[in-house]
Amino acid sequence: MMKKGKPTIAERMDRAGTETAFLVFAMAKEIEKTGAKVIHFEMGEPDFDTPEHIKEAARKALASGYTHYTAAPGLLELRQAIAEYVSKDFDVDIDPEKEVIVMPGAKPGLFTGILATVNPGDEVIMPNPAFPIYESVVNLVRAKPVPIPLREENDFRLSPADVAKKVTKKTKLLILNSPHNPCGSTLMRDEVEELAEIAKRHNLWVMSDEIYSKIIYHGRHHSMLSVPGMKERTILVHGFSKTYAMTGWRLGYAVGNAQVIANMTKLQVNIASCAAAFSQMAGIEALRGPQDSVGEMVREYQKRRDAIVHELNSIKGFSCKTPTGAFYAFPNIKDTGMKSKELMEFLLTKAHVACVHGTAFGRYGEGYLRFSYATSIENIREGMERVKAAVEEL
Ligand SMILES: Cc1ncc(COP(=O)(O)O)c(C=O)c1O
Repeated sequence: MMKKGKPTIAERMDRAGTETAFLVFAMAKEIEKTGAKVIHFEMGEPDFDTPEHIKEAARKALASGYTHYTAAPGLLELRQAIAEYVSKDFDVDIDPEKEVIVMPGAKPGLFTGILATVNPGDEVIMPNPAFPIYESVVNLVRAKPVPIPLREENDFRLSPADVAKKVTKKTKLLILNSPHNPCGSTLMRDEVEELAEIAKRHNLWVMSDEIYSKIIYHGRHHSMLSVPGMKERTILVHGFSKTYAMTGWRLGYAVGNAQVIANMTKLQVNIASCAAAFSQMAGIEALRGPQDSVGEMVREYQKRRDAIVHELNSIKGFSCKTPTGAFYAFPNIKDTGMKSKELMEFLLTKAHVACVHGTAFGRYGEGYLRFSYATSIENIREGMERVKAAVEEL
């Protein structure tokens, strides 16, 4: 029997979301094809090059034969380096053999961590706005995202009281992200502790995305793993992309509950086998080698942050809080009278300035735009001049 028509795409694909920054980037590239110069604030990626000593470690690794598969959870030496780094930074003992997995980026940690812990019908509490992949993957597995609005009056920090109100019998996982993308907010120690208490009280898994933990401007980073007793119910998602300007190396890791890590490893065998061997060797150098470049990059981000926040606050209809971590400014644009997507498109087409609308990160992002300031001061100055001129004409 011949079946007529075309084969169809799986229905689950309708539930998968995407990362709008890549779509805006593609739109900007189309504009650039006409010869126009676009100022880019859309991509969340360091503009710095990977530090030279890390690149050198990869070259050496390639020359000495790190061109094959590694163990599925990663080279043991890298897992040991991660365990040492996390133990020292977050004051918790980590078993490199059972509690660490190396992956091709932090994103696969989010994906496999959710797949390994959440059943269809479960509820997953998460901040909104937030990194869109959380909601996408939760929808993909037929679970229910439960958004907690991040309020500007609360400096865009997730409120434990708001979280507590949304816990039901169906809640399985709490997703956290501090320092936060897109708001640039950071959780305080007492907030992390209160969220840990909620997770313990209601027997929840916690996925703590701390990929920006080194990019912090005030005080220090407070990790969920540092809270006594939380390692057993936490999946820390972290990586090399942001701290060491290594987005293209595709290298990240997850640390936490041994049973979840074992199941994430099982998924990794199904998807990727392992992260690239020479990238892993570079990762060892990144963690164990000199850390000066990290401090230099953060100091530079801080200068850029101050410049962009100052400029944004001088634009008619814009107001911007000073972010405390990551490299995103999240100005309120409600007084322009435009919706955030409409304004994003207007700025891209009229001023050739690329940024991301707040609603790309969830419905509570309406009224805001995200500008990544991982770009030069010159670009920030020129970009803000253009935005100012375009908005004056509204
Ligand atoms: C909050 C957050 N988590 C995870 C990631 C993904 O990182 P990676 O490039 O290591 O997959 C990003 C990248 O933008 C991010 O902003």
